[in-house]
Amino acid sequence: MKTFTADIKHGDCLTVLADYPANFFDLIVTSPPYADRRKNTYGGISPEKYVDWFLPRGGQFLRVLKPAGTFILNIKEKAENGERHTFVLELILALRKQGWLWTEEFIWHKRNCYPGKWPNRFRDAWERCLQFNKTRHFKMNQEAVMVPMGDWKDARLKSLGKNDVVRFDSQVGSGFGKNIENWVGREKAYPSNVLHLATECGNKSHSAAFPEALPEWFIRLFTDEGDLVLDPFLGSGTTCAVAQRLRRNSVGVEILADYCGLAEAEIKTADYQLFENGAKNGKRINSGNHKVH
Ligand SMILES: C[S@@+](CC[C@H](N)C(=O)[O-])C[C@H]1O[C@@H](n2cnc3c(N)ncnc32)[C@H](O)[C@@H]1O
Repeated sequence: MKTFTADIKHGDCLTVLADYPANFFDLIVTSPPYADRRKNTYGGISPEKYVDWFLPRGGQFLRVLKPAGTFILNIKEKAENGERHTFVLELILALRKQGWLWTEEFIWHKRNCYPGKWPNRFRDAWERCLQFNKTRHFKMNQEAVMVPMGDWKDARLKSLGKNDVVRFDSQVGSGFGKNIENWVGREKAYPSNVLHLATECGNKSHSAAFPEALPEWFIRLFTDEGDLVLDPFLGSGTTCAVAQRLRRNSVGVEILADYCGLAEAEIKTADYQLFENGAKNGKRINSGNHKVH
């Protein structure tokens, strides 16, 4: 039986990745420290110094990613002194200067975010998943993430207008077009760039773990079976565990030894056969969690 490797490396991703060859990984999917948001658990970087801290690591990511590969960066800026900090926006601009194309921005909508009350803002219910590429021609398996059409189709597709039965070009000049008639009778559609996923941190010993469905969606979309996935800020090992279940190889880098141990344990329970049979620790990972919105 074919086995898929999940290799956990202890250390700073900057130095660990220096030992890897160029053009090696098919996908990088990761969630780095969000500046100093968790400085009491795994340290942090001041937002003012964040871009300078990130860029040498971003340079390594650029070097080790294959030309047709994708880099997904899950990150969110916090509010400070009454306004949003701009370090993520500055990071996007700096990564573009470094040679990355900023090809897309997905929104992770947290379906179960904590209720709360603030005097000048509402609950924070979303995070950015920034997509960067080395070239415009990257691998993308759109069919792998199709979603059920949803109930809206019964009303929307029942009677078609004149713009629905011809290819109707975008009015904002984006070059995109659509022909609504093509979707009549179909059960599945391509998703939007908003991912509706619940957080799962309560189940883990890592305070900032992302839900399994998050790396799962990007791994399905941007890799094939047997490809190699990298998470340079591995935390509890979510990315490697999901990659293993999806029959991809992976490397995870984590600076704290305790979290490396946590990741090892997580990966041991990741058995793609169990996954295929619809159960992991008694629960199914639900990749069809989001519908067309
Ligand atoms: C937001 S958490 C990642 C959580 C992960 N996605 C999960 O599901 O568990 C960021 C992780 O990066 C680690 N880290 C911070 N700086 C690092 C570095 N320079 N190299 C490797 N890991 C680092 C932290 O210890 C922390 O566990």
